[in-house]
Amino acid sequence: MIDIFEEVAEFCRLEIPKEHRLPIAIIGAGGIVDGAHLPAYKKAGLTVDGITDVDQVKAHDVAARHGIPHVYANVDELLEKSNAGVIDIAVPSIAQPEIFAKVAQAKRNILAQKPMAPTIEQGVAMADLVDSNAIVAGVNQQLRFEEGVAAAYKMVSLGWIGTVTNMSITVNLATPWEMWPWAKDLDRLEVMLHSIHYHDLIRWFLGDPHSVFCAAGRTKGQYPRGETRTISTALYDSGVTSLVHANHVNRGGDNSGEFRIDGEKGSIKGTLGLLYDYPNGRVDTVEVSSSLVPTDGWLPYPVTTRWFPDAFIGTMGSVLSAIAISTPVRSSVRDNVGTLKLVDALYRSMDSGSSVKL
Ligand SMILES: NC(=O)c1ccc[n+]([C@@H]2O[C@H](COP(=O)([O-])OP(=O)(O)OC[C@H]3O[C@@H](n4cnc5c(N)ncnc54)[C@H](O)[C@@H]3O)[C@@H](O)[C@H]2O)c1
Repeated sequence: MIDIFEEVAEFCRLEIPKEHRLPIAIIGAGGIVDGAHLPAYKKAGLTVDGITDVDQVKAHDVAARHGIPHVYANVDELLEKSNAGVIDIAVPSIAQPEIFAKVAQAKRNILAQKPMAPTIEQGVAMADLVDSNAIVAGVNQQLRFEEGVAAAYKMVSLGWIGTVTNMSITVNLATPWEMWPWAKDLDRLEVMLHSIHYHDLIRWFLGDPHSVFCAAGRTKGQYPRGETRTISTALYDSGVTSLVHANHVNRGGDNSGEFRIDGEKGSIKGTLGLLYDYPNGRVDTVEVSSSLVPTDGWLPYPVTTRWFPDAFIGTMGSVLSAIAISTPVRSSVRDNVGTLKLVDALYRSMDSGSSVKL
């Protein structure tokens, strides 16, 4: 490890200390649990006590393949019989608020999937339930833990690129929307389900913008009803700007995902390997050019983990750490209300054709 990266690497560490590890129970046995939550928990040495799903065949199949000892008939039985320290909810957002309320009222700690709710009002009610039941709860915005992105965050915090002037994320993908039949008829699709990761990430770096603008498109013959191409810009009180360009109609066969942060003293750029070959992915990259460190040109940081499944250790680890030693949850339910507000503002801009103040 190059010495100057030591502090950055420490910030990116995903291991969960043994004394923080509590058993987990899962609600939802879908693709993301099968392909990312469970492999991440195995890697982190976490125990999964049980699982439930309205589709019990699926729950039994996932349990058998991942060695989960209990399949519960429903959420009530899971809450009654499981001794899990965190309930991991991973169902479509339409179903999540009701399940979340039940779990919170049972005073169980929660990790909820993104988007945590279809509306701001439901999100606020969920955050209020966290407070009134004195539980710990996070939202699975695990891009905040992807190693390259987390390294960039730390480099910015250390002042390596000076005052940030702009942040941009650009993805060109051929997304197989058929994988999510429940999303086929959603009016709010791309920003709500996919780019919410990027908007949440930019909020983590830059805070809430002053105003946003979003242009969106649908393409003839596409499977889902909602928008599949979006270009979002944001302006902050400080004069910083940001851009998210997400195009899911890439017919060129060269899927890509890039991010870039520019500052007055340098720049950071990286790639999200997952998007080059979803869901298998390839290695992530990040590099920094700084006149302050100094780096003498572009210096690559050696990323050794991936968004899927490794970053999922981060979101669960953050909830477990908050339970064990009261550290703040990096992506808390209350904080995520801000992300829902930003997403809603983008849709209002899309619908009105005008910029929207937050
Ligand atoms: N990067 C990410 O964090 C990421 C990636 C993909 C999906 N997701 C999110 O994860 C959630 C699940 O996505 P998926 O890809 O696994 O979808 P999926 O369709 O593969 O699985 C969803 C599962 O939820 C179950 N379910 C639905 N309603 C339920 C209820 N009321 N009680 C119990 N189970 C119920 C379904 O039977 C299904 O098995 C969605 O909210 C999605 O937005 C997040």
